Amino acid sequence: MNQASRTPVAACNWKMNLSRDAARKLVDAVRNLDYQLQGVEIVLAPPYVLLPLAADWISGSGIRLAAQNMHWEEKGAFTGEVSPLMLREAGCSHVILGHSERRHVFGESDEQVGRKVRSALAHELVPILCVGEKLGEREAGETTRVVERQLAAGLAGVGGAETGGLVVAYEPVWAIGTGRNASGQDAQEVHRFIRAWLAKAHGADVADRVRILYGGSVTPANIAELISQKDVDGTLVGGASLKADTIIPIIKSSMKR
Ligand code: PGA
Repeated sequence: MNQASRTPVAACNWKMNLSRDAARKLVDAVRNLDYQLQGVEIVLAPPYVLLPLAADWISGSGIRLAAQNMHWEEKGAFTGEVSPLMLREAGCSHVILGHSERRHVFGESDEQVGRKVRSALAHELVPILCVGEKLGEREAGETTRVVERQLAAGLAGVGGAETGGLVVAYEPVWAIGTGRNASGQDAQEVHRFIRAWLAKAHGADVADRVRILYGGSVTPANIAELISQKDVDGTLVGGASLKADTIIPIIKSSMKR
């Protein structure tokens, strides 16, 4: 399998943003586009409380629904947490795990991210596993070491055919919400490293199938350069996913590779 057979993904991470009305308008605009487009997988990740509503709004379209996080347990005394069963019931097919804000603002460990990935796969949710280095780590030449550590812990105990369905998002922390994106070449270097690591750890077939997304200040102005890279199979978009004006050109450009 080569690049052309991996369907590109445009994943929209709304984070803790958008009122119900604004979300509805945005979903309608994206849904309209979904009808016109083939060959790009659109994934929307609204805040938890909007998930069941968004599931209704997208029903009948090809748009997929993701949560931004989850707990690994199915139920129990875990105040404030949401379980994989609840996400399935709310209509999710995907879940973002190990986002840098979860790791660095809320202190999630590599080991916790791994538990979440294993639980997501066990509940037939597609994990979008986020990895990426901080600025100091990049400057110290530690990018691949950090990414490798996060991949190894995030995918510990994961194996078999299910691994090929996984999505990995390379999100350099210094590029998230800063307006400073990685260049196409910088992104490609890390994406190539991730695919090579996957080939070594999980076999060439899995490495060929896994979609590797880039995230961090993706905009309509830089999407073409990013998506044209050999190992960039789509994007995970934060700020620019909150407005139809910016997300629609990004989704459209995601097909041109
Ligand atoms: P950004 O966020 O596009 O606003 O930089 C990306 C992300 O955090 O997923």
